[in-house]
Amino acid sequence: MRGRKAKSQDGRELRDIDTTNTIMGGEMNTFLDLAKTRKSTRSYKDQKISRQDLELCAEAARYAPSACNSQPWKFIIVDDPALKNSIKNEAFSGIYSLNTFAGNATAFIIQISEKIKRPAWLAGQLTNTNFRLIDTGIACSHVVLQAQELGIGSCILGWFNHKKLKKALNIPRNKKVELVIALGYPGNPAAKKKQLKTVDETISFNKY
Ligand SMILES: Cc1cc2nc3c(=O)[nH]c(=O)nc-3n(C[C@H](O)[C@H](O)[C@H](O)COP(=O)(O)O)c2cc1C
Repeated sequence: MRGRKAKSQDGRELRDIDTTNTIMGGEMNTFLDLAKTRKSTRSYKDQKISRQDLELCAEAARYAPSACNSQPWKFIIVDDPALKNSIKNEAFSGIYSLNTFAGNATAFIIQISEKIKRPAWLAGQLTNTNFRLIDTGIACSHVVLQAQELGIGSCILGWFNHKKLKKALNIPRNKKVELVIALGYPGNPAAKKKQLKTVDETISFNKY
């Protein structure tokens, strides 16, 4: 279907957008469809994710833009059941048990931040901007959108026991784990509806 009108949550038409492409004879969703359908998944099927698909998710992150092309990241893919279990017990327990659900994920992609290039650091100092964190977030977004395209659910996690996670994965003391991305095929398709701010609250042309 071509020329479908995109609508905001409150029903306003945003603009005419060609929402599908036909590539190699098959119908492919547009990026907007992908972005709209991605939701944080907190219930997972007991179904293995292939290594190839896990690698694709991390590979998508590698192509993310970063300030001065610093690429300040490293990704550890965790798919070993015993290791996953120890992460569940160590990193998502106690005050972190809000995220116990993540222990049932099929795999994790752990995002560790690395050094940014000097010009990016300097620009960050002068503009009071943390480019390393911005870069991290963009790369993380690539992971979850790639997962979505593969039909894999994801949940970005910022609340976990850093110390214990680092110990479980032998991550050097001077490194920082920024985010954990839980991955798994969605177990509960009736996930929560997206709660979005309105278009007027979030987008404007030519002025604040
Ligand atoms: C940086 C970051 C940290 C997050 N940390 C957690 C978390 O610790 N636990 C959790 O359940 N969800 C976490 N989330 C998921 C958000 O709650 C979720 O993205 C938000 O509510 C919007 O819902 P949606 O992802 O379904 O669109 C995090 C998301 C981001 C971007």
